[in-house]
Amino acid sequence: MTKQEKYEQVLPQIKAVIEGENDTVANMANVAAILHGTFGFWWTGFYLVKENELVLAPFQGPVACTRIQKGRGVCGTALEQKKTIIVENVHKFAGHIACSSESNSEIVVPIMKKEEVKGVIDIDSREFGTFDENDKLYLERVAGLLAISL
Ligand code: SME
Repeated sequence: MTKQEKYEQVLPQIKAVIEGENDTVANMANVAAILHGTFGFWWTGFYLVKENELVLAPFQGPVACTRIQKGRGVCGTALEQKKTIIVENVHKFAGHIACSSESNSEIVVPIMKKEEVKGVIDIDSREFGTFDENDKLYLERVAGLLAISL
């Protein structure tokens, strides 16, 4: 199955999970499990914006940093710039925060509500160049769905 086909398969599943529940943490927990289980990423999870910094939220994968300041790392940059960031090689991203030395590429997608970033989807891969425009497109749709319960 191609990556696109996998996303097409998981999107209705994600929609069903979110439509049945309005608790953000519960929904993030299930969405992390669905994405992580389907694609076999290295780390799949969320950070929520609290008092202008990012605080770790539900995830699947190894232990991660609990707080990330605005403008720091890939996540803090996505928060500051209010846009999706795809990093082909995290070792070349100035200021990348290495929660795990095994991670080689990353995508961070902001979860927006009324022009404001409420949190981010953060996914790490052990392979280089895992993420492309397809991931951006589908994960931004996932972010849009999650924003409903925020
Ligand atoms: N690498 C991220 C930090 C979060 S962990 O990858 C889970 C960053 O640079 O923002």
